[in-house]
Amino acid sequence: MRFHLVAAPVILAVLWALALVQSLDFQFPNFTEAARKQLILSSNSYIAEKAIQVTPDSHGASMANMSGRVLYRWPFRLWSKGGKKASFNTTFVLNIKNMTPSSGEGLAFILTADRDVPVGSEGQWLGIVNPTLNGSMEARTAAVEFDTGKSFPDDLDDNHIGLDVNSVYSRTSVSLNGRNIYISSGNDIKVVVRYDGKNLTVFVGEDMDNPVLSEHLNLSSYLPEAVYVGFSGSTSNNTQLNCVKSWEFIGSEIKDSKLRWVWILVAAGSVLILLISTGIGAVFLHRKRGCKVDRLDDAYPNIDEAILRSSIAPRNYKFKELGKATGNFNRKNKLGKGGFGTVYKGILGNKEVAVKRVSKKSTQGKQEFMAEVTTIGNLHHRNLVKLIGWCHERREYLLVYEYLPNGSLDKYVFCDEKPVTQEATVLSWEKRLSVISGVAHALDYLHNGCMKRVFHRDIKASNIMLDSDFNAKLGDFGLARTIIRNEQTHHSTKELAGTPGYMAPESILTGRATAETDVYAFGVLVLEVACGRKPGGQTERDDYISNIVHGLWELYRRGTILEGADARLDGIFKKEEMERVLILGLACCHPNPNDRPSMKTVLEVLTGEAPLPDVPAERPVFMWPPKPPSFKEWDNSIIGDQLPPISELAGR
Ligand SMILES: *[C@@H]1O[C@H](CO)[C@@H](O)[C@H](O)[C@H]1NC(C)=O
Ligand SMILES: *[C@@H]1O[C@H](CO)[C@@H](O)[C@H](O)[C@H]1NC(C)=O
Ligand SMILES: *[C@@H]1O[C@H](CO)[C@@H](O)[C@H](O)[C@H]1NC(C)=O
Ligand SMILES: *[C@@H]1O[C@H](CO)[C@@H](O)[C@H](O)[C@H]1NC(C)=O
Ligand SMILES: *[C@@H]1O[C@H](CO)[C@@H](O)[C@H](O)[C@H]1NC(C)=O
Ligand SMILES: *[C@@H]1O[C@H](CO)[C@@H](O)[C@H](O)[C@H]1NC(C)=O
Ligand SMILES: *[C@@H]1O[C@H](CO)[C@@H](O)[C@H](O)[C@H]1NC(C)=O
Repeated sequence: MRFHLVAAPVILAVLWALALVQSLDFQFPNFTEAARKQLILSSNSYIAEKAIQVTPDSHGASMANMSGRVLYRWPFRLWSKGGKKASFNTTFVLNIKNMTPSSGEGLAFILTADRDVPVGSEGQWLGIVNPTLNGSMEARTAAVEFDTGKSFPDDLDDNHIGLDVNSVYSRTSVSLNGRNIYISSGNDIKVVVRYDGKNLTVFVGEDMDNPVLSEHLNLSSYLPEAVYVGFSGSTSNNTQLNCVKSWEFIGSEIKDSKLRWVWILVAAGSVLILLISTGIGAVFLHRKRGCKVDRLDDAYPNIDEAILRSSIAPRNYKFKELGKATGNFNRKNKLGKGGFGTVYKGILGNKEVAVKRVSKKSTQGKQEFMAEVTTIGNLHHRNLVKLIGWCHERREYLLVYEYLPNGSLDKYVFCDEKPVTQEATVLSWEKRLSVISGVAHALDYLHNGCMKRVFHRDIKASNIMLDSDFNAKLGDFGLARTIIRNEQTHHSTKELAGTPGYMAPESILTGRATAETDVYAFGVLVLEVACGRKPGGQTERDDYISNIVHGLWELYRRGTILEGADARLDGIFKKEEMERVLILGLACCHPNPNDRPSMKTVLEVLTGEAPLPDVPAERPVFMWPPKPPSFKEWDNSIIGDQLPPISELAGR
């Protein structure tokens, strides 16, 4: 045991030292989800169709005015202080297809010091630099550009390659028109880039005898010792698909003097001595445990600062205050326990609050903590659970919410599993309608009403809280993501998030959160509230119990949708109202995301300002990619103009 404890760090130290001298070699014959682990993808980039999509390819989602960057996760050592230089050969296949009559803007192979795509590098900047970095040594980026738009007067044409250093104004550019190669034709284009430490040479197409470009270039003068390699791209009002279909990279290793080995041995030796002299076991074991707990601290090194910077953040409490408020987290005050933590009732000042203490073991809980503080912390709406404060101290993460005496909606609407307890009275239809309308208002606010678009990603009955008058308040923003307006319309997740039964069919394929996936979950919620049933699983079976959407659609097809209404309501509801709500719920659960109404339309239907959307009698089959919309207005594209400015948020 002891031996392992000592040996592990020593081996790690040696491996670390070896990694410094190691070469970089990798091959992607295609890109699958598994490749993601080896790449750094900017927020607009993702893997789809077995290729890297450097900028979005999405049908429906906006492709215009985007920039993206995809890099290999581990850096490449380009040169050493001892004057040695590495060389590399890389081969990749590009596929660029214009989506507007003129293609826009281009793709580039880059070597860069910067993992992140520069802000403002869309349009003519190809994700390489932005107006501030252009021409500056700070940019520390070299690129071979594949330019498909003539974006400024000195630009050669709309079909050229260029060699760029810290700028998008190429030192050399060569048109491909003479070679009968058209970059944005949608054809696969093979490219080989070679660097031998002195010259950079580029071959395009099958002709490996005549390089398109070969130029003397001392990369060590512009780039740091270690750089990331990969691709960047952009679109403007003119758009194109910027795909990389395969990629191979072979980099040489820099052989430094033998002295390096001496250093490795010295390093390993000192680690060993250090460990022995500091009561190894205790220290190491402790660190090992500490590691997991602190992962969030690593991801957000200045967590407190980040929260405080996010404008009018909720109040920062001291751990002591919250301890006192909850009677030292007394069991008697426990309101509930979730996967990520325990919620206690407390008194702060003379106000009742709910305090969530994130479980120390839950890394996810801490991500949830950040999501909550930075999303709802800044939002105010009467149908959102209010976040009053937070605390991050001594590895404790706590959230303070307003206290809602009636608990969560699920306790009141489901008849098919939980026995109805005494306090969980059956909600009247009137109250149910008010709950549905409240949640619709909350979601419309998140999607269309605040400065940054927020996707909740986990709409379900147990996340709807009820105040003393049974007004609905949407809570639990642990999975929520903020989208900067106009920058992107969806959030790509690494993990599939949400709750089965509430997840739109396409989200299982794309892993992407959109306004439409929230609308789907809302539709399921509407059906549960009206039918008093749980949503069931992700099954294709048509029976009512196993999937509420399929079951109800079947009743709708037969013209007997009212049979779906919760029996416990004893028929006390207006038939037209019930029917309207059930059909609206089905419309939101349309398998084609483009055919789902927006939250704005949902609200209008609920108030009677808009007619019910057409819902086909036969449930359409799920198809991907989706068909263009049939009855939905294109609200995505007009949101920006319609937004009333929200003055309380304008301080950012
Ligand atoms: C895709 O790449 C994987 C390795 O990353 C390889 O095993 C597989 O054969 C490739 N598929 C095709 C169609 O090239
Ligand atoms: C790159 O390719 C050239 C020509 O095939 C070869 O001479 C050189 O050794 C290769 N460099 C690396 C780092 O593999
Ligand atoms: C970008 O930088 C280049 C120098 O690399 C300079 O010639 C050009 O004027 C700059 N363009 C803009 C718009 O700043
Ligand atoms: C490097 O490029 C120069 C032109 O810039 C050329 O004259 C020279 O032959 C090239 N050398 C090699 C090894 O390709
Ligand atoms: C390349 O640039 C580095 C850093 O500026 C310099 O030390 C080195 O001498 C240069 N090499 C050549 C061949 O010009
Ligand atoms: C791009 O579109 C926006 C809005 O439609 C317009 O204001 C802008 O002038 C356009 N830019 C270019 C370069 O065409
Ligand atoms: C492109 O997006 C940026 C920021 O996202 C914005 O400032 C700029 O005006 C947009 N340009 C066009 C042409 O829409």
